[in-house]
Amino acid sequence: MAVIANNCPQHRVAVVDINAARVAAWQSDRLPIYEPGLDEIVRRARDKNLFFSTEIDRHIAEADIIFVSVNTPTKTFGRGAGRAADLQDWEKTARQILENSTSPKIVVEKSTLPVRTAEAMERILDSNSKGMRFDIVSNPEFLAEGTAIRDMQNPDRVLIGGRETPSGQKAVQAIVDIYAQWVPSERIVTTNLWSSELSKLVANAFLAQRISSINAISALCEKTEADVSEVAHAIGMDSRIGSRFLRASVGFGGSCFKKDILNLVYLCEHYGLQEVGDYWKQVVEMNEYQQARFVSNMVLSMFNTVAGKRIALLGAAFKANTNDTRESPALNVCRALLEERAEIVISDPHALDNARADLGDAAQHVTFEPDPYAAAEGAHAIAILTEWPHFIELDYEAIFRSMIKPAFIFDGRNILDHTRLHAMGFNVYAIGRPPLTNFVVNGTEANV
Ligand code: UDX
Repeated sequence: MAVIANNCPQHRVAVVDINAARVAAWQSDRLPIYEPGLDEIVRRARDKNLFFSTEIDRHIAEADIIFVSVNTPTKTFGRGAGRAADLQDWEKTARQILENSTSPKIVVEKSTLPVRTAEAMERILDSNSKGMRFDIVSNPEFLAEGTAIRDMQNPDRVLIGGRETPSGQKAVQAIVDIYAQWVPSERIVTTNLWSSELSKLVANAFLAQRISSINAISALCEKTEADVSEVAHAIGMDSRIGSRFLRASVGFGGSCFKKDILNLVYLCEHYGLQEVGDYWKQVVEMNEYQQARFVSNMVLSMFNTVAGKRIALLGAAFKANTNDTRESPALNVCRALLEERAEIVISDPHALDNARADLGDAAQHVTFEPDPYAAAEGAHAIAILTEWPHFIELDYEAIFRSMIKPAFIFDGRNILDHTRLHAMGFNVYAIGRPPLTNFVVNGTEANV
């Protein structure tokens, strides 16, 4: 909404939320989200044509267009628990729109929703006795965290879906007109409602599938002395495959991929397409396998036990340039190592508060240390779990000196110079590459 406000000075944008503390934070100098470039654009538009408020009813009444961005988490109860989307908040919002409207409105689905949600929303909104007209438009968001402002300012495409009726098409055009202020027209794609709703889930499923595919191959590389980065480079040069999203890692995280795939799986099963659902479910299962495999490689290589050993986890965020720890592989690795009774220290430049909150009760057994050098001091092992660029620049000679020997490093993001670390004396374990060890057995170097 801040990007829209910046690009459309002729429109007044009000962002409303039930959480007063969060609204207050949006009005302050310390925004509640760490996102490069966000502070600047919020500051530029705030109190000019961008407002933050808890007065939801009043702003509903005043608005011509309402973007609904309430969360649609995975359902934790009843039918479809653990897979289907929980649409409580969406439905409540639809009813709130209905109660507070005195004029016709365009209601935009910005939250990620199962295909055909708009139908239920239309039924709720059309149940009014005031004769008011509501048009539902689907406009899914494809931005990625850490590059959100850049992605919105310069999107690959903007997708807008609507009903194929004259009034539906007019509503679509109203949303097209907003984006056309800064997005070239050839990048604005219009479709029917259902294609738009489904495309969001499918885009995330395809992206996650690429990561699971390369991660599956990384396991094979570790057995065969092939190097997954070389394989990814070689296949990525085929323009039909493309080079992006082929970085093998400890696994994908974030609030979208797992949730959206499980939602897709649930939809497939709902429509009786068991095999299709099973196919996509495997993308999530492979991701869980990759994280479990990373932890068991750590335990195995550290002589089958990490109990009582200090291990420094560098990175808590699910990716670099965000403070978001939702579904972060770093926290899953942390939980698994705690079960092995390791002594865990986590270091992250921006995500420690969220990590502490997300770990819940387990947090009391973890030390949170912003300084990576202090985290590594006296540790048996370091694991790189988020690809923060400054982890590449650390003085690993100094870190090596401060660690217990033999010193282990597990690079879950393949961002470090492994040959150099090996030469310093580290035992280096990467994703999809043979380990580089410095163990000496009977006077000769032995690979373990
Ligand atoms: C994703 C989609 O990219 C975005 O279009 C959608 O709107 C929301 O979901 P996001 O979750 O912010 O965005 O992050 P993304 O950059 O896609 O990364 C997801 C996860 O995959 C991260 O944990 C990242 O570290 C991991 N990843 C990404 C890899 O492990 N390897 C890669 O090659 C790319």
